[in-house]
Amino acid sequence: MRLFTTVAALRCYLRQARAGQPNSEFEVGLVPTMGALHAGHLSLIEKARKENNLVVVSIFVNPLQFGPTEDFHKYPRQLEIDRQFCEPAGVDVIFAPTPAELGIIPLAKVTPEESSLPVTEVIPPAAMISVMCGRSRLGHFPGVTTIVAKLFNIVQPDKAYFGQKDAQQLAIIRRMVQDLNFPMKIVGCPIIREPSGLALSSRNQYLTPEQKAEATILYQGLKQAEIAFHKGEVKSQQLIAIVKAQLARVSSLQTEYVELVHPNTLKPLTEIEEVGLLAIAARLGSTRLIDNILLDKR
Ligand code: PAJ
Repeated sequence: MRLFTTVAALRCYLRQARAGQPNSEFEVGLVPTMGALHAGHLSLIEKARKENNLVVVSIFVNPLQFGPTEDFHKYPRQLEIDRQFCEPAGVDVIFAPTPAELGIIPLAKVTPEESSLPVTEVIPPAAMISVMCGRSRLGHFPGVTTIVAKLFNIVQPDKAYFGQKDAQQLAIIRRMVQDLNFPMKIVGCPIIREPSGLALSSRNQYLTPEQKAEATILYQGLKQAEIAFHKGEVKSQQLIAIVKAQLARVSSLQTEYVELVHPNTLKPLTEIEEVGLLAIAARLGSTRLIDNILLDKR
């Protein structure tokens, strides 16, 4: 396994790896991450390993996607542990650049006057960032699409792997790849959960054992709505009310949103015709948690 921190070194390696290989027979898979890797990331890596000749995992805590009051500084950084995690999983290359290597100055290092970052941005469609996490995390999704577009251009993968855990991110990236004609396939992967139902997340490290137990209410709420859906309930208001009633049982939980949207367009639904994405964001103390479930009639 190789670790690269510069674009030039990674490109040189990839050029050599591809040399002499017919394009159709040599496929490169990319798994973009922010590190602090866990079994959720591993499921993406394993799928990429099965479907490609060469697997690149990028590890980059992207300053562009954190708001000024968010956890950019405290976000877990553990490159050596992540390296030991990737090796047995069969990863060929870790790409772990610094912000400067990608032409990005972290907000913290600049004065407020300098804080308009000198990078060309990729902005997702307004309708996809005015719902769900986009409401409270202004600038988050443009930060994600900008960095992911850069990673796609640097690695030029045949396939890139994203988790359904971040369902809004997945829909936005699929849209970006379609709109900007990236010659590659986006592979969506199911949410990996703890036995308790809690969706794995690097941010779960912030939770106390008590909060971890409380956090399971997110999935319980979604499961209750799923049961009602399978019994025939398709109305958004009712399904959302079922989730909210569950979430209300944990008094320390502050619900940010419970929304039902179409999983591809993210348009809010009044009822499910074929498929709906039921999604939650909530805070436990200072930790922001998200979870979702697909309700599919098909
Ligand atoms: P990060 O939060 O590290 O997640 C990297 C990938 O792992 C994402 O596609 C995410 O959806 C997936 N993932 C996280 N937890 C998961 C779980 N429990 N089950 C399945 N997949 C899971 O998402 C990002 O990083 C960043 O926004 C990034 C795309 C790297 C751009 O900076």
